[in-house]
Amino acid sequence: MDFSTQTSAPEKIKTAALVVGVHADGVLTQAADAVDRAAQGAVRAAVKTDFKGKAGETLVLRSLPGVAAQRVVLAGLGSQEALSPKALAAAHRAALAAVAALGVTETVSALAAVPMQSADVRTRARLAAIAAGEVTYRFDATFGKRDAVSRPKLARLVLAVERSEAKEAEAGLREGSAIANGMSLARDLGNLPGNVCTPTYLGETAKKLGKSHKLKVEVLDRKQIEALKMGSFLSVARGSDEPPKFIVLRYEGARQKPAGRGKAAAGGPVVLVGKGITFDAGGISLKPAAGMDEMKYDMCGAASVFGTLRAVAELGLPLDVIGVVPACENLPSGRANKPGDVVTTMSGQTVEILNTDAEGRLILCDALTYVERFKPSTVIDIATLTGACVTALGHVNTGLFTPDDALADTLTSLSRQALDPVWRLPLDDDYQEQLKSNFADMANIGGPPAGAVTAACFLSRYAKGYRWAHLDIAGTAWRSGKDKGATGRPVPLLTQYLLSLV
Ligand code: BES
Ligand code: MN
Ligand code: ZN
Repeated sequence: MDFSTQTSAPEKIKTAALVVGVHADGVLTQAADAVDRAAQGAVRAAVKTDFKGKAGETLVLRSLPGVAAQRVVLAGLGSQEALSPKALAAAHRAALAAVAALGVTETVSALAAVPMQSADVRTRARLAAIAAGEVTYRFDATFGKRDAVSRPKLARLVLAVERSEAKEAEAGLREGSAIANGMSLARDLGNLPGNVCTPTYLGETAKKLGKSHKLKVEVLDRKQIEALKMGSFLSVARGSDEPPKFIVLRYEGARQKPAGRGKAAAGGPVVLVGKGITFDAGGISLKPAAGMDEMKYDMCGAASVFGTLRAVAELGLPLDVIGVVPACENLPSGRANKPGDVVTTMSGQTVEILNTDAEGRLILCDALTYVERFKPSTVIDIATLTGACVTALGHVNTGLFTPDDALADTLTSLSRQALDPVWRLPLDDDYQEQLKSNFADMANIGGPPAGAVTAACFLSRYAKGYRWAHLDIAGTAWRSGKDKGATGRPVPLLTQYLLSLV
């Protein structure tokens, strides 16, 4: 997608489709009003009979007299008082979908110019670009006939804004475009099947991303992982014939910053650790067959790390960000982990594996130990870790766990801004009791109560050396059912967090 701004009067804009907003009860936005006046009341007339202004509603008007645009698309914004970034984003998506359905290649939208107390024009433009990315995304990599998937022709979005707001709008479009590209990469990787998107494939993808986006990339193989003594990660990988990979991507932007500026540069890099299980059959503690295909999505944490690094590199942010991905499969085999096995983690702590399906924490613990060497300012791990998190929070909020109250508040408030919400869950020491083992320093499961919390408690034992947060994206990384597919979350939140540090 190509993004730009334009500052002419709405009625004078020559385009195949001009999008203007209408609030509930027929209250016109400024742009809708300007078009209405030029067209001698045609918008008001249409709104009276055919349009309620409900959020997500659209109506296409053709060949209005006195209006340069070929079509005017009315986009409902809902009640004016309740106008929120969320409602605006929904209106952007609905309007762009309506425009895409017209088969046109470009559109001019005045929606980002609608004033809103809780979002400045930069934020509104960012939302527009992300919406455009979401509406035009298609996954066609695995169809024999790619034509089976119809791709929208829409390739250009122009935001109509006031001259005084054009600069900020352009900055918002740049950010939104980078986030959309990051989400698209994360979605592609998530949607690829397990027989294509293997640990090796993730490693190759990292190398390609390194070349295209100037990242330093290292892909460690089994020998190198053994040398690091990642006994826990290797124990999971052993059950599969696909070789494991330990992937490190570094974006070094801090040097380009004038000395003394910036909050993140002083305290070391931000490290993002993503769970990269390219297929999770559960191992010897085999999962039930129904819906098991969705465990190809068990690398969506890794995908979000790739996507965020792509966004950060595209924006050239002046900070250092390191992505770390332990990648392997979790399968049953003669070499697989068995319930009761005890493994030694890179940290030296031992783990009794009571359920081989609790493998995410077994690969992440070694990655969390590995990243100590970077002296990070903050480490955030992202993982499709527990079904219990889906039970607790559903598909709306990502689970957030951190012992650091300030970091929790920051991530929570940024997540609301990014429309990529998280909800904090507890991490009290009392839950650690559930991880007691008679045969090792800890067990890898804590029993049925509070399963998302005890998984986070397990990780916390390996994340003591730095400021740390854990995001459980089991409920938010993909959708099931007829719209089955990866969502690209939490790339918006992670990118917004990194943007907040510069
Ligand atoms: N990848 C799964 C978590 C998961 C399950 C994500 C369903 C999304 C939907 C993870 O590896 C897993 O299997 N977790 C177990 C842990 C249990 C054995 C303690 C779970 O949640 O059932
Ligand atoms: Mn599992
Ligand atoms: Zn898993």
